[in-house]
Amino acid sequence: MTSQGRPDHVWVQEVPERFAFRYEGGKAFVEGVALEDIAAAVGTPTYVYSAAHIADRYRALEASVAGHPTKICYAVKSNGSLAVLRHLQRLGSGADIVSVGEMKRAMAAGITPDKIVFSGVGKTDDELDAAIEAGLRSINAESSEEVTRIEARAKATGKTANVTLRVNPEIDPKTHPYLATGLRDAKFGISMDEATTLARHVHATQGLRLEGIGCHIGSQIADVTPFTESFDRLRTLAKGLQEDGVSLGHIDLGGGFGIAYSESEAELDIAAWGKAVVAASAELDVELMIEPGRYLTGQAGVLITRVVGNKHSPTKGFLIIDAAMNDLLRPALYQAYHAILPVNRPAEDAEVSSVDVVGPVCESGDFLGLERAMPACETGSLLGVLSAGAYGMSMASNYNTRPLPAEVWVDGDRFAVTRPRQTVEELLAVEQVPEWA
Ligand code: LLP
Repeated sequence: MTSQGRPDHVWVQEVPERFAFRYEGGKAFVEGVALEDIAAAVGTPTYVYSAAHIADRYRALEASVAGHPTKICYAVKSNGSLAVLRHLQRLGSGADIVSVGEMKRAMAAGITPDKIVFSGVGKTDDELDAAIEAGLRSINAESSEEVTRIEARAKATGKTANVTLRVNPEIDPKTHPYLATGLRDAKFGISMDEATTLARHVHATQGLRLEGIGCHIGSQIADVTPFTESFDRLRTLAKGLQEDGVSLGHIDLGGGFGIAYSESEAELDIAAWGKAVVAASAELDVELMIEPGRYLTGQAGVLITRVVGNKHSPTKGFLIIDAAMNDLLRPALYQAYHAILPVNRPAEDAEVSSVDVVGPVCESGDFLGLERAMPACETGSLLGVLSAGAYGMSMASNYNTRPLPAEVWVDGDRFAVTRPRQTVEELLAVEQVPEWA
């Protein structure tokens, strides 16, 4: 949350490969487009995504697992923008979805059902019907009760449901407690003890096809070890099943690959992760599947925002901006750090002072950064909030009747609005007051 060392505009310039945001001359760019040009055309707050950055990350991930057949199913929840999905579809990606809404998004972007996996701890019967009807590659079941419901829905629709069992390998991913999903008391996954019996049951049941087993131990994980430890457990389970004649099509290792938001954080070493995973798959005659979200889109996004005012209380300074917790919830919800930089490059010797960068929403938790070492940022000037491509727009809300921000897609020297800024009129138009009230 707070600055841990040097001002963001200093260290960010030393790691240009990490972010889609870069200075050229005195201005900030995403690829060949100046952020001030986007702000002038579209207004603020606006999310901007880089096509090249996403493609580079996709290819790096693909290269890391090149030694073993691996399907990448992008986690739509991290950023479901149709432009992002279409781009990833063209790169060859499938989709990991958690609702029928996300299924429709993925399909609208051209991702075919055979490349879509349906995760989530509480799928309704309607959602199961839609998934079975569409013939998704896999429904990732989270409990024996859910398997029973999938069985019933498959019978009712007269179709076969493809099932993967999501197990809980009970591994501590050493991340923010809200982002850990593979601990013993988590609501996610099937216990290791129950998994073998349930897998045999799915394998033997008409109307169900056992596609594989999988796990997702959490998000924003920077170390390779929790991944290899959970893969070890899954491998043992898979081998036991194979010895029993229960064959598997894939092992789904989930997502969770961590990125570096601040100077002090390290990103997951994806090449080392890939090497470990490929080595561990050597004797397994199954395809691997992964569900990355943040790794592909996180650093590709910048949230542009304008300074609404500067304010000084007796104890501290505030930079008030036009983006708020409703636009980017991560700082308020997870005390997450996002680097915040002026769009006009500060002078090398610019003096900095400590400020809280806050939004206009009526909550003290409405901040995008606390105690940040920032150069003077005049009212009306523009800022870029970095690493905002994942879980930014997808978690945005209308709190305080604030319309959702616009989204812009950048590819080379071109940019296009892929989602116009919502208007208050649109918000009000869907509401009704009963005549009798
Ligand atoms: N697969 C499953 C089953 C998941 O639940 C998730 C994320 C992913 C894949 C993708 O994880 P990723 O590769 O993006 O870490 N809102 C939080 C993150 C919540 C993640 C939930 N599940 C944040 O802003 O950090």
